[in-house]
Amino acid sequence: MNILVTGGAGYIGSHTCVVLLEAGHEVTVIDNLCNSSAIALERVQELAGRALRFVQGDVRSRSDLERAFEGGIDAVIHFAALKAVGESCERPLAYFDNNIGGTITLMQAMEAHGVDRLVFSSSATVYGEPDEVPIREDAPLRVTNPYGRTKLVMEQLIGDWCQARRQASAVLLRYFNPVGAHPSGRIGEDPRGLPNNLMPYVAQVAVGRRERLSVFGNDYPTPDGTGIRDYLHVMDLAEAHLSAVDFVAARTGCEVFNLGTGRGYSVLEVVKAFEVASGRDVTLEIVGRRAGDVAELTADPEKARSNDGLGWRAQRDIHAMCGDAWRFQQQAVVEG
Ligand code: NAD
Ligand code: WQD
Repeated sequence: MNILVTGGAGYIGSHTCVVLLEAGHEVTVIDNLCNSSAIALERVQELAGRALRFVQGDVRSRSDLERAFEGGIDAVIHFAALKAVGESCERPLAYFDNNIGGTITLMQAMEAHGVDRLVFSSSATVYGEPDEVPIREDAPLRVTNPYGRTKLVMEQLIGDWCQARRQASAVLLRYFNPVGAHPSGRIGEDPRGLPNNLMPYVAQVAVGRRERLSVFGNDYPTPDGTGIRDYLHVMDLAEAHLSAVDFVAARTGCEVFNLGTGRGYSVLEVVKAFEVASGRDVTLEIVGRRAGDVAELTADPEKARSNDGLGWRAQRDIHAMCGDAWRFQQQAVVEG
């Protein structure tokens, strides 16, 4: 298929492009590079041994999208979004405009070009503070910050669009905690400035770029008191998108899937696994809880696993997640 990947130069998008190219799909990326670099796309092509088409542009711009849709597109994977929870609380309008505005413009362009298949990056953030874990897709949705609100609104807009357009087909993928890197270490997650997320922070401490990790609270009702999350290797996540493209090609309507392993790890367990993978010590200090954090978030991944679902299951464990993140981190330092 000819697949348009919005945000394809980003962390999850770049890994997905490798997997799509390796599976024989033709890939067009549209990305405005607001949180990524074109170097990632060079590496994607090097890893896959095949070329993709890159349109540097913004999904909020119809004329940029016109360039991206040139030549015919069969399905769209929509990653392009702003994703920092803290920043979304300070600049909510930027998040509404970029994420919601971009998704509306994208759907307009899809309609204009007769493209009916959409795979959308949602997030476990739409569950807010869950009543119970592991979380099923039919759990109540309650967002706790503007970023989460954009994800929930976009899910609803896409659902309405599918209702109105009988031939349309969409999947909403609720990612839990994507981590790790391509096993080559050539592409991965290299956040600008201070990392918001645990794994890149731990990696930067291990490599000596930061002095110590602040552990946000050790008084949660969990076995070691630190927060538990469902970490998912980014290559497993990329492969889920390959299954999702087949899924939207085979049916109509809108379906939602959790993407996680179903197994949770605490902050201290992640740090330990990273120390083993890297052979380095990770200095840490316990500080107060981070506002908005919950004790435990884990996915019930059964729906995605089912053969009526995506027929997909995460394969890689915490050791692969840490080992691959470490390989990427070491190269990131060498190359500046
Ligand atoms: P990322 O920032 O690395 O990638 C997003 C890409 O989109 C970047 O390359 C950025 O330049 C591009 N972009 C942003 N706005 C754009 C616009 N208006 N037009 C064109 N390009 C634009 O983020 P990521 O971690 O790869 O996340 C990808 C998607 O997955 C996002 O929608 C994010 O909300 C979602 N998600 C991420 C996580 C996570 O922890 N990384 C978890 C759940 C959901
Ligand atoms: C994981 C655990 C922290 C950093 C976020 C977004 C969510 C989704 C994924 C996009 C928690 C602890 C972290 C640190 C720490 N993104 N921690 N010290 O918060 O589960 O999810 O990213 O959709 O929307 O909210 O991930 O990696 O930030 O935190 O102790 O320096 O690590 O308290 O228990 P989170 P995270």
